[in-house]
Amino acid sequence: MSALDMLVVAQKTHWGTVDGEPVDLYTISNSSLTTSITNFGACVTSIEAPDENGAKADVVLGFKKLDDYLRDEKTYMGAIAGRYANRIADGTFAIDGSVYHIPSRHRDYALHGGTIGFDRKVWSAAIIPNGVEFTLVSPDGDMGFPGTLTVHVRYTLESSSLRIEYTATTDKPTVVNLTNHSYFNLAGRSGGTVLDHELMLNADRYTPIDAVMIPTGVLAPVSGTPLDFRQSHRIGERIQSEDEQLKLAGGYDHNFVLNGEGLRLAAKAFDPHSGRTLTVSTTEPGVQFYSGNFLDGSVIDSDGRPYEKYAGFCLETQHFPNSPNEAEFPSTILRPGQMLHSTTIFEFGVQE
Ligand code: GLA
Repeated sequence: MSALDMLVVAQKTHWGTVDGEPVDLYTISNSSLTTSITNFGACVTSIEAPDENGAKADVVLGFKKLDDYLRDEKTYMGAIAGRYANRIADGTFAIDGSVYHIPSRHRDYALHGGTIGFDRKVWSAAIIPNGVEFTLVSPDGDMGFPGTLTVHVRYTLESSSLRIEYTATTDKPTVVNLTNHSYFNLAGRSGGTVLDHELMLNADRYTPIDAVMIPTGVLAPVSGTPLDFRQSHRIGERIQSEDEQLKLAGGYDHNFVLNGEGLRLAAKAFDPHSGRTLTVSTTEPGVQFYSGNFLDGSVIDSDGRPYEKYAGFCLETQHFPNSPNEAEFPSTILRPGQMLHSTTIFEFGVQE
């Protein structure tokens, strides 16, 4: 690859204001990819990637206007979810004997950091080599969480990959779980459902859920279930099967326990229509594979098209849901003096 192919260009354009704070759109591109990311929610609003003929399309769901993000309070499209991505049972947990409550729209759990999570915040931003770094200082007591948490999310382009690096520090013991909530559709944003995409997940086990979608605490084998994606399967192949776990979630919406440690393969997806592939690597112990079951046509894209059920799928690299209440799960506690460091890479390609 030549130096020109590797060149990354970043541009900032003003996009609007939220509570008087300026919101910008950062467009980062190289010869393979063009991605736009806003400092509202540190949210990825588009990723243009080539198909097998070199034709580019936007492979994530999103909106062209800031107003559409402000209006959509339920999909978390493209955003960074935090301070605690995914669910905490009853919105309640304890650290060192002190009990904390997170405000929630749901009766049985807090989701994605409470009613005003990191996805709704205006982050500060700086263009850095090959990308953009977003910073958020979440004050002590923000959404009930203890400790001032300083979070940096760095998005950089490396050849045909979008790399996301997360770091966080705190001044009191707290819990942290950060993820990017992009919905992918490798056929393109308006490419219908993702049921024909083939998916491989590098996970022998998953965390089964109860009736309100909280992990039971068990790490169960995927073997013999429709959650076995160790070999590629079409997302739609078994999604309607008579399986209690799929019924509880209305499709796939489960945390998979990734095999191995360190930065390693988490998932591979392939769209047979466009030939596009997505390869996900992460340092996180888990990935929430969510098949867009709650998209119901009520959220409309900026061109007036409804986002229907299964219009996109998420691969939310993360610690396991409800870890603050599960002593056996990898810990999500961050203490003063410690630095959280997490990496996820989304690599785009075409099937050879
Ligand atoms: C996550 C959850 C889903 C759903 C989406 C947002 O993926 O696991 O259940 O809440 O966020 O709609």
